Amino acid sequence: MSSNKSQKTASGSGSGEIKEERGEDHFLDQTLRPHTWDEYVGQKHIKDNVKILLEAARERGHIPEHVLFYGPPGLGKTTLAHLIASETGRQMRITSGPAIEKVGDLASILTNLAPGDILFIDEIHRLNKMVEEILYPAMESGVIDIIIGKGPSARTIQLDLPPFTLIAATTRAALISSPLRSRFSGGVFRMEFYSNEEIAEIIKRSGRLLRAELEKDALAEIAKRSRFTPRTANYFLKRCRDYAQVHKRPLDKETVKEALEMLSVDEIGLNSSDRKFLEILIKKFSGGPVGLKTIAAAMSEEEATVEEVIEPYLLQLGLIERTPRGRVATRTAYEHMNMKMPEESQNKLL
Ligand SMILES: Nc1ncnc2c1ncn2[C@@H]1O[C@H](COP(=O)(O)OP(=O)(O)O)[C@@H](O)[C@H]1O
Ligand SMILES: [Mg+2]
Repeated sequence: MSSNKSQKTASGSGSGEIKEERGEDHFLDQTLRPHTWDEYVGQKHIKDNVKILLEAARERGHIPEHVLFYGPPGLGKTTLAHLIASETGRQMRITSGPAIEKVGDLASILTNLAPGDILFIDEIHRLNKMVEEILYPAMESGVIDIIIGKGPSARTIQLDLPPFTLIAATTRAALISSPLRSRFSGGVFRMEFYSNEEIAEIIKRSGRLLRAELEKDALAEIAKRSRFTPRTANYFLKRCRDYAQVHKRPLDKETVKEALEMLSVDEIGLNSSDRKFLEILIKKFSGGPVGLKTIAAAMSEEEATVEEVIEPYLLQLGLIERTPRGRVATRTAYEHMNMKMPEESQNKLL
């Protein structure tokens, strides 16, 4: 059962236990994933805190405490979990909220851990309530309560677990209940968007790994459109490299522009979904305020996608604002969409 790789997939008895990551994204994530703290660009606040946490635990001879990372997709949460595992030389078991369907699934994962293992639960906001409640005593006191039998003869037994560190990730911090949140004694960390310089550094390294000969201004051009997100940057780099190769062109600024235009990514990194969001907000709802449900329905898009993927970037760029009454388009949004902002709309932002 053991292999010389430190990462394994924890499986419950339920179906679909492996974290679903698909196709090319998954492949790119794997090949380009940083393996050392030095290669992990940015997120200084998190790095500093996590390093102290690990070092303190090491000095005391304890295992590191549980940590939670939250933020939009592609910012490096999974990568951090892998880094913590490799930097502390621990084995990591990987699972995800939706994969743990039943209490028994979690019980079997936990009881099968080796002492000192890391358990990574991705998308932890999707754990169901009953499973979540088993996790509380597991995280806090290293025990689980299991009910044996049914009906009047049922009884509860308590099992001691091997000591473990839980690393969890979520794109939706608001859905994490406060009892769960409070059990991450090592900290709850918010992932920040990356600066253009940091993204450029990431692209440079990825370019080397993919053997793509990038001109300097091409690098800046990809960075500018990458939604401040490493995964997007790497994906764009790959697309641009392919485009350059097929057209037998150097990977320069012009090539990048053409390649990304083909993907409908505009000069500030908005894709067609982002532009559709703005267009509906401005044209159909006169700039807002409009609720998440309504706008998602008008776009025929999942609410979760709108909230986790589309909105964070638009907010970051200052194209929309979240007000108590809903989403509102800013002047910048009107300008970017080449539309005139009506006088009365300006008051909505106050
Ligand atoms: N800080 C970083 N430095 C360099 N590359 C990064 C960084 N964060 C993420 N990446 C790249 O982006 C990819 C996606 O990161 P990942 O950890 O899977 O994001 P998340 O789990 O937050 O969705 C990784 O495979 C890696 O190549
Ligand atoms: Mg991830």
